[in-house]
Amino acid sequence: MKPKVIVTRDIPDEVELKLKEYFQVSFNREDKVFSNDILRKAMESADGIVCTVTDSITDELLTLPNKKVKIIANIGVGVDHIDLQSAKENNVIITNTPDVLTESTVDVATLLLLSVTRNAFLVEKMLRQDEWKGFSLTENLGVDVRGKILGIVGMGRIGKSFAKRAHEIFGMKVLYYNRSPVKDLTFEASVRFDLDALLEESDVISLHLSSDKGNKNFISKSRLKKIRPSSFLINTSRGDVIDQMALTDMLAKKKLAGAGLDVFINEPNVPPELRQLTNTTLYPHIGSATHETRTKMGMLAVENLIAFFNKKQVINEL
Ligand code: DGY
Repeated sequence: MKPKVIVTRDIPDEVELKLKEYFQVSFNREDKVFSNDILRKAMESADGIVCTVTDSITDELLTLPNKKVKIIANIGVGVDHIDLQSAKENNVIITNTPDVLTESTVDVATLLLLSVTRNAFLVEKMLRQDEWKGFSLTENLGVDVRGKILGIVGMGRIGKSFAKRAHEIFGMKVLYYNRSPVKDLTFEASVRFDLDALLEESDVISLHLSSDKGNKNFISKSRLKKIRPSSFLINTSRGDVIDQMALTDMLAKKKLAGAGLDVFINEPNVPPELRQLTNTTLYPHIGSATHETRTKMGMLAVENLIAFFNKKQVINEL
């Protein structure tokens, strides 16, 4: 008999077809986030679950006495919504989908980079509200990124790829914060072991921190204060790596030039104080949101399930 798999959110058609080939599958046609109760039932009735960032896979679920689930294949690279320690202790395999989403996430970091430095939100808003007074040599000016310093915090796959693109395509100088120099870099970049030094020196800071619990509030209020008022901040990793309230306050008081954010604390509830700021570009967590990438992510999650149930090496076990 085919193993039973429950999918927590709507998924691309191609991924659905592939799943049906190998498993007895239950889909979430409404695409409404499962309640804890429904997740509990899923843990007790399925052999495998396909989930994503909107599902909290807690210790409570992983320690259910009647738990049946043996593998949870997450569609997404970040797994801060899953209690990995508890999964390990309770023999549930967790997999994610790295690599396939790197370039589309870098595309969004690039959009944010150009958008905040050229006031894209503000100028478009002005035009759409019919407030454009006409071409001017001195109005609506942004700043060039060429020759400016990009400070990368988190030199993993996405951080590295964004740094490379910013350097090679946009002519930015790259600094990165790390405990030791990254060895396999194919472009020029200088390491800073002191985060405050990187924050002070950079014209644009881009966060690519992993979603480990230890990175919560990593860019704290006191660290935000190290950033120069003329500098910009970009975040495509997770909302809670920054003190979001302190960031909002600093942006409102123009103590930072601008911020480009694709991720927030407690999504989708972005506070009105942040939404009303015009020196920001705010996207609804779309880093990997292209048809091609979402299909690749889904297919990789399915490959992980297939490998597991065929007793083969799981590709992306955490
Ligand atoms: C990721 O892959 O981590 C994206 O943020 C979606 O979860």
